[in-house]
Amino acid sequence: MKMMLSLAWLLIAIAHKAEPLISENFTDCREFFYNQWFPDGFQNISLPHHFNCTDLPDGIEAEELTSPAYICQQYDNKYHFASLYDRGRRVPLYSAYILDRRSTDKPTNKRKKNFSIEPQLVYRGLDGTMLREHNTKIKIGIYNTDHGISEREEKNRPSYLMPTSQAVDADYYKNKHYDRGHLNPRGHHVDADKQNATFTFTNVVPMNKGLNNGNWNRYERRMMGNADGCTTMYVVTGIVPGNNWINNNRVNIPSHVWSAYCCVDNNAKPIRSGAGLVNNTKDMVYEMELNELQMQLETLLNATNIEVFQNNCI
Ligand SMILES: *[C@@H]1O[C@H](CO)[C@@H](O)[C@H](O)[C@H]1NC(C)=O
Ligand SMILES: *[C@@H]1O[C@H](CO)[C@@H](O)[C@H](O)[C@H]1NC(C)=O
Ligand SMILES: *[C@@H]1O[C@H](CO)[C@@H](O)[C@H](O)[C@H]1NC(C)=O
Ligand SMILES: *[C@@H]1O[C@H](CO)[C@@H](O)[C@H](O)[C@H]1NC(C)=O
Ligand SMILES: *[C@@H]1O[C@H](CO)[C@@H](O)[C@H](O)[C@H]1NC(C)=O
Ligand SMILES: *[C@@H]1O[C@H](CO)[C@@H](O)[C@H](O)[C@H]1NC(C)=O
Ligand SMILES: *[C@@H]1O[C@H](CO)[C@@H](O)[C@H](O)[C@H]1NC(C)=O
Repeated sequence: MKMMLSLAWLLIAIAHKAEPLISENFTDCREFFYNQWFPDGFQNISLPHHFNCTDLPDGIEAEELTSPAYICQQYDNKYHFASLYDRGRRVPLYSAYILDRRSTDKPTNKRKKNFSIEPQLVYRGLDGTMLREHNTKIKIGIYNTDHGISEREEKNRPSYLMPTSQAVDADYYKNKHYDRGHLNPRGHHVDADKQNATFTFTNVVPMNKGLNNGNWNRYERRMMGNADGCTTMYVVTGIVPGNNWINNNRVNIPSHVWSAYCCVDNNAKPIRSGAGLVNNTKDMVYEMELNELQMQLETLLNATNIEVFQNNCI
């Protein structure tokens, strides 16, 4: 009997393997990357996903939980940018976007108050549109009902699945030292939907409050000036994972924050590039050439062949 059961499981596992698993890259939102080419050298930095219940939830298979996860950030049925998400640390390793050249110091739209989360990180089968926590829990409940998944066990409950799969409001709520630091900032966009799309937990990291409101904010403003004369300015903003965490080791506090840009003309030919790197303290942002940033990242990340833009945006 036991033998037959394991055979049945094996057959089910094989049948499932044939289904498409998590996307292996940003192929659906490649327009946010210079030359539609994805940054290299970041694939092996993330930590694996872990559950605190010993059994896997009934609706999830281990191979779906690849870390990093490739998120095409979807809001209002449109893609707005891309984020490489470290499931083990519950932070994005970077977000890639196009800076809107029309952006200025004075944003026009009302600031969005609430952050969204990513239902796809819970169950692959859920819709790829970012949603508020409350609505995500409802979606998980409907998915469970549709798939005959029992919520009598904690491991299948929305209240467990949602915060296990990603950072949520409670992780950042009332933290005295760390803000929800946007990687792709609202201020680099003009359209309300693009601005709203940045308010999602898979685009923020615990950032030193003084840095977020001080030197990093000023650096983001200087970046708008770097867009002068560009037809398109591609930006990738990311982190170096650190050794400290917020909220009982749930969300990693980056040791550094970095950013790089590649600016191109109307023939998609590079005009200039540049980068910045800062400790996650209220320190100054060091502005540097792209090559210099990549060398520093290789040391900080213990990685080889870090390449943010194809052919170094030359
Ligand atoms: C992206 O992944 C798809 C399969 O998921 C693959 O066909 C394609 O070649 C990949 N593209 C890049 C640029 O790696
Ligand atoms: C990541 O790890 C895999 C498997 O260990 C290896 O094949 C691949 O070359 C690594 N990629 C990078 C960018 O280091
Ligand atoms: C945002 O979320 C908080 C708590 O989750 C809630 O009390 C508040 O009403 C929400 N704000 C808006 C504008 O929906
Ligand atoms: C697992 O984590 C969830 C969410 O962080 C928590 O509410 C729950 O009590 C934990 N369960 C166990 C068995 O540790
Ligand atoms: C953006 O968010 C604000 C605040 O939640 C909302 O009032 C507005 O309708 C949203 N705009 C778009 C285009 O989604
Ligand atoms: C900031 O980062 C630099 C480079 O990684 C390091 O040498 C320095 O000690 C750090 N300073 C602080 C205050 O953490
Ligand atoms: C850095 O990476 C190399 C090769 O992947 C590994 O052998 C080494 O232990 C790593 N060092 C640290 C400090 O993580």
